[in-house]
Amino acid sequence: MWRAARGKALFGGRARCSECHVPPLFTEPGWNLHTPQEIGIDDFQANRAPDARYRTTPLKGLWTHARRGFYHDGRFATLGEVMDHYDAHFSLGLSSAQKRDLAEYLKSL
Ligand code: HEC
Repeated sequence: MWRAARGKALFGGRARCSECHVPPLFTEPGWNLHTPQEIGIDDFQANRAPDARYRTTPLKGLWTHARRGFYHDGRFATLGEVMDHYDAHFSLGLSSAQKRDLAEYLKSL
């Protein structure tokens, strides 16, 4: 199977990314705000927004803005770091090959 196809299966399956990043835009229809605790980051920026939450980033066309880093403040320089973060925060137990597959899938969106 292609790497991106394996990543797609993980995204909607075991890694449960699609619970928040819902296709076709890969954000959530309607209510797409999450508390910093939910995604395992600090609340410095969220507290400056009126509802103290972060908006689920649409992942479509992700590769076009990859140069400034990921998350609202660019705290993760690479998709690999984003995968490590989710893996740890949600205790997903992904192998490094699975993280690479996921990152490949994201780049294909
Ligand atoms: C609980 C909801 C939730 C789940 C589950 C979730 N995400 Fe996210 N995701 C978010 C939010 C909210 C942000 C925005 C965070 C920020 O801007 O600081 C985000 C941001 C991202 C970004 C950064 C996008 C950018 O342009 O900077 C990537 C990449 C990403 N998520 C991929 C994934 C992957 C892969 C998974 C599955 C392993 C996943 N997400 C699971 C809510 C979620």
